[in-house]
Amino acid sequence: MTPEGIDDRRLEEIGRREARCFAERTRRSAELLERARRSMPNGVPMAWMAGLCDHAPIFVTHGEGAWFEDVDGNRYLDFNQADLAATLGFAPPAVTGAVRRRAAEGASFLLPTEDGVIAAELLAERTGLPFWQFTGSASASNTEVLRIARVATGREKVLAFEGKYHGHIDETLVDGRGADARHEALGLPRSVLATIRVVPFNDLAALEVALAARDIACLVAEPMLTNVGIVFPDEGFWAEARRLARQAGALLVIDEAHTHSFAYGGLTRAWGLEPDLLVVGKGLGSGIAFGAYGMTAELSDLCVRHLDGSVAEADGLALGGTTYGNALALAAARASLEQCLTKEAYRRTAELGQKLGDGLEAVFRRRSFDWRAPVIGGRSAWVLFPELPRTAEESYRSLDRRFVETRRLFMLNRGIWEAIRTAGPALSFAHRQADVARYLEVADAFVAELRDGG
Ligand SMILES: Cc1ncc(COP(=O)(O)O)c(C=O)c1O
Repeated sequence: MTPEGIDDRRLEEIGRREARCFAERTRRSAELLERARRSMPNGVPMAWMAGLCDHAPIFVTHGEGAWFEDVDGNRYLDFNQADLAATLGFAPPAVTGAVRRRAAEGASFLLPTEDGVIAAELLAERTGLPFWQFTGSASASNTEVLRIARVATGREKVLAFEGKYHGHIDETLVDGRGADARHEALGLPRSVLATIRVVPFNDLAALEVALAARDIACLVAEPMLTNVGIVFPDEGFWAEARRLARQAGALLVIDEAHTHSFAYGGLTRAWGLEPDLLVVGKGLGSGIAFGAYGMTAELSDLCVRHLDGSVAEADGLALGGTTYGNALALAAARASLEQCLTKEAYRRTAELGQKLGDGLEAVFRRRSFDWRAPVIGGRSAWVLFPELPRTAEESYRSLDRRFVETRRLFMLNRGIWEAIRTAGPALSFAHRQADVARYLEVADAFVAELRDGG
C-alpha cells in the first residue's frame, strides 16, 4: 500500500493491463522508435523524450489548440504542453502568422529587430523589471543571470531551495545540504558542489543561516515550487526572504520559466516579489526556443560597463549566443505577449484551472480519498494527502513513481497526456470547459478503479 490508502497490487494490475493496451495502440510509433534507435541514442533527438515515461515515446504528427495527434492516428488532449513551452496551445494562429512572416523575411541576423524592442517594453511594463535580454532558453537565461550576480556582488556562491529546477545548468544541479551535497545528474564538475547551498522551501531560519557568511551572490528561486507538484510559499514568506537576502548583500533572482503562465505579469507582479533579476522562457516563445531575463537599471548599467564582443574579452560579461535574441523567436514572443497573453486570457485560464482543481477534489471525495488538488492559474496537482505540502520533501510523497506512471498510462490510453512525472495537470490558454470535463471523467475512472476495482 504505497502511498497510504492505495492498493499496490491493484496498481500493478492496472499498470500491466494498460501497458498491453498502449502497445496495441502505438504500433507505428514503436516501428519508428526501432528505426530511430539506429541513429539516435534511445531513439530520440533529445534524451528527455525517452526519459519522460516508463513506456516508449509516442511520435507526433501535428497539434492544434489543446490537442495533438500521433503517427498511429491517436488524438490526445495535452495537459502539460511540453512542460509549459506551448502554454498557448499548439499552433496559435496569431503566433503562427507572425512566425510564418518572419521566417519568410529572414530568421536570424545577429542584429536587432523592432520586435525585440517591443517584447522588452511589454515585459518591462508587465513585470516591473525595466531592462531585458534575450537568450535561447530559460536554462541559458539562468546561466547568464548567475554570471551577472557574481560580477555584481564579487561573490561566487548561489543559494537555492530544495525541489528547485532551474534548467540543466551545472550550478544548480546539486542537491543535499552541507557535507551531503551531491550532483543530481552525471557529467558535472565536482567543483559545483562547493558553489551552491540548498535549504528547504518555506524555512526562513535555514535561509538566514545559509546567508550568514555573507558569501552568497544570489538567492535563485521559483516564486513557488512547480517542479515537485506545486508548493505554495507561506503567508509573508517572500517579504521576509527578500529582506534576509538583501540584508546579507545577496541579489534575488526569481525564475518564472513556469509561473509566468499562471498570472498576467507572472507571480512577480501578482505577489509583488521585487526581484533584482527575473527569468522567463518556455511558453513566451510559444514552442519556439526562447528565453529572456529582466533586470534592474543598476544591473543594466553593469552590463553596459562590461559589454562583451563576439569574442570573449577579459573585462566583458560572458553573455550571449549566436542564435540568442534572433528575429524569429522575438517575433513569436511579441505576438504571444501582444495578442495571446492578455489579461482576459489569463483570467479565463485561471477560472478553468479552478474548475479543474475543484473537480479533482470532488472526484477524490466521491471515491473516499482524502486528497487535495491545489490550483495556481491553469495548473493543478494530485496531492495524495489531506494537507497541502509546504516543502519539496512533503510534496515528493505524492509523486510515488508507480502511482504516477500508472495514472498517466491509464489516462494516456483514454486520450489524456501529461508529459512530466513530477508536475500535474496544466491547462493551456486553448483549453475549454469540455476538455476539463474530459480530464475529470478519465481521472474519475482511474480513481474509481483504484478504490473498488472499477
Ligand atoms: C523553473 C524552471 N527554470 C528553468 C527551466 C529550464 O527551462 P528550459 O529547459 O526551457 O531551458 C525549467 C524547466 O523545466 C524550469 O522549470
